[in-house]
This record gives sequence, C-alpha cells and structure tokens, in this order.
Amino acid sequence: MIPFIDLKSQYARIQDRVEAAVLATMRSGTFILGPEVLALEQRLAEFAGTKHCVSCASGTDALVMALMAKGVGPGDAVFTVPFTFMASAEAICTVGATPIFVDVDPATFNIDRSALSRAIEALAKGDASIHPLPRWDVNKLAGLTPQGIIAVDLFGLPADYQAINAIAGQHDLFVIEDAAQSFGGGAGNARAGSLAEIGCTSFFPAKPLGCYGDGGAIFTDDAEIDALLRSIRVHGQGSDKYENVRLGITGRLDAVQAAVLNVKLDIFDDELVQRQRVADAYGAALAGAGLDLIAPVIPGGYASAWAQYTLIASDAEARSVFQARLAAADIPTMIYYPRPLHTQQAFAPLGYAEGDFAVTEDLVHRVFSLPMHPYLADDEARRIVAAMKG
Ligand SMILES: Cc1ncc(COP(=O)(O)O)c(C=O)c1O
Repeated sequence: MIPFIDLKSQYARIQDRVEAAVLATMRSGTFILGPEVLALEQRLAEFAGTKHCVSCASGTDALVMALMAKGVGPGDAVFTVPFTFMASAEAICTVGATPIFVDVDPATFNIDRSALSRAIEALAKGDASIHPLPRWDVNKLAGLTPQGIIAVDLFGLPADYQAINAIAGQHDLFVIEDAAQSFGGGAGNARAGSLAEIGCTSFFPAKPLGCYGDGGAIFTDDAEIDALLRSIRVHGQGSDKYENVRLGITGRLDAVQAAVLNVKLDIFDDELVQRQRVADAYGAALAGAGLDLIAPVIPGGYASAWAQYTLIASDAEARSVFQARLAAADIPTMIYYPRPLHTQQAFAPLGYAEGDFAVTEDLVHRVFSLPMHPYLADDEARRIVAAMKG
C-alpha cells in the first residue's frame, strides 16, 4: 500500500535525532516556550525571510491571533475564499467579524483577483449584483467595515500577492497570507509566509513542515505586530505574567513540538526538493498517459510546497472512476475539498446560496488528490498514473 503521506519513512530518517531532542527537552523541565521555541522562531524567520516569527499552538490560532493583532472584531468584514480548509474563514468569525467570500481562479485554485476587486466594490456599494454578498438586509450590510483580506495558498502554491497587495493598498485593507499549506514554497525570491503584511502557517503533522501534534507560526516584518502577537499569545500579557493589557488566548507552541520542528527543519530543504521531484514525475507520467485530467499548473516564478498534488477530472462521475481504479490498486486518494465553505451549515447565517461561487462549486465535484510526500519513488508515481488508466 502506498501511503497518502509517509510520516513513517520520515521518522525512520530522523529517529535518532528527534528522539534525542525530545528526550533532552523533557529532561530540561521547560515545556512551554523556552530556548527550543526561541531557537525555532529565529530559524523560521530566517527561512521565510521575515524579521519576526511568533510560533503558536496551531495554524488556526495563527490566523485568529493575526486578526486580533489587526484589531478585527464585530462589524468588520474580511474577504476570503470558499475553496479552502474551514479555518481560513472560521478564524474571521472567531473574532466576531464577517467573512465575505470571493471565488477562486480555476487554474491556480487561489483567490481570483478580478473577483476580489468586484467583491470590494459590491460591499462598498451594498450591491450584490456586482458580486455575491451575504444575504442580509441593506442596513446590516452597510454596517460592515471592510478591513482586510485572508488569501490562501492552496495545496502549496502561493496566491498572486503582487495583485492582492496592490488591490489591498488601493482600498486600505490589510493582507494576511494563509500559508498553512505553502510553507516552503515561494514567489520570485520571496518565500511563503513573507508575501503579505502577516503570514500564518500550520505545523499540523500532514503539512509540508509538520510537528507531532498541533503547532503554527506567524511571520511579519512589523515590530509592533510582533510585540502584539507575543502579548496576545499569553492572555494579553503586559510587562509581566500577571499584568494583562489586552485580551488574548493560550496560543503558545510547546517546547517538545519545537524540538521536533528543529530537527525536521534540518531536512526540510531536501524534502522540498523531493516533493518537486515527485510532482515532476507525476507531470511527466500524466503528459504521456492520455487521461482526461488537468494536472496542476505552477505559474512561472512560483514554487509550490506541494502540500497536495491535485488533479481535475472532467466531472464527478469521471472522478469516481479514477478514484475507484486507484482504490482497486490499493492507492489512496483524497478530495480537498468536497464542500464549499459558503454552503457549510456553520456559515448559514451569512445566507450564501448554491450558485454564488461557480468555480468553487465546480471544483468540489471534480478535484481529487494523489499521494504526495518526499519519500514517494518516481516509479511509484508512474505506477499511480498507470493505475488510473484502468
Ligand atoms: C489553508 C489552511 N488554513 C488553516 C489551517 C489550520 O491549521 P491548523 O490545523 O494547524 O489549525 C489549515 C490546516 O489544517 C489549512 O489547510
């Protein structure tokens, strides 16, 4: 059986180092923050190319803390996509604000910049004929103040931040990069996490850089935001533990996860090279296979962290056939994501409806992801593609 994500092979590679590091941390008696965490934050900031990195308890907390640092709350609106993991939009609601969904580009799966401009205009004018908006009465809609954008780097490919940051600048909006899936990827000479004012990532075990539990990190060049995040991470701590100058959360990364990540960071560059190798092997095999499938496209100048290798079938039925053929060959597949966020029950109070975001609604019926990890051999990638021929 080919694993969808092979954490066992990775563990065999780093077992001695990771076990020694975890044991040393347990013997140190420092479990929350401490030197392992500080060392990790410095290394992560250097890796991403930002001045500051604040580690935290999860990718979701990273987004929530970033929104809190920007002062987002009830009455505020934040633009994001419906084709993503729950957390991208959930974090907006967690701080009491309202997500305004914007459809994605069918080629990159990331936010569609012209739809983003239309959504901003529609909200400013309270005119849902320009772009779908929450189905609220005009006064409630008019009460929303647009504050920012959470752009998502889906499946490892950074969104188009040149365009997104420019649009945000025109409308005085902040940009948060949801780099939960793209850490290790980049655009031009800049790495994911550094492409907007604030970058957020996740170290969930299945992510390109994952720990052995939950973890996350926030990146910024802004010293003021860095200080705010460090305070928010510990209940709005002021000059000492028992001075609370604002509301915060228990948002810290623990030392054991930091010890794991410090070891995994040593092999991360090589793992990224291996992920690209696997993507190339899939691409070459698919090019000659004659299958009615669209393979991922990485625009020039971009690098994907290849969190997922996602194909688009011609329709839901064709997707089921491919998945069944792969399952018969003992090859696992996944559907990211089977439901658009705007039709999830959790967001029902927004009143969005089927038909609001045509690209997302089409993709959820056609996408499926193949096994993707640094330890997948080229001939396994070829075997996976061959199995799809039936
Ligand atoms: C795009 C995206 N955003 C946010 C998150 C949240 O990260 P976490 O699971 O660490 O809270 C995830 C991953 O799970 C994700 O894929």
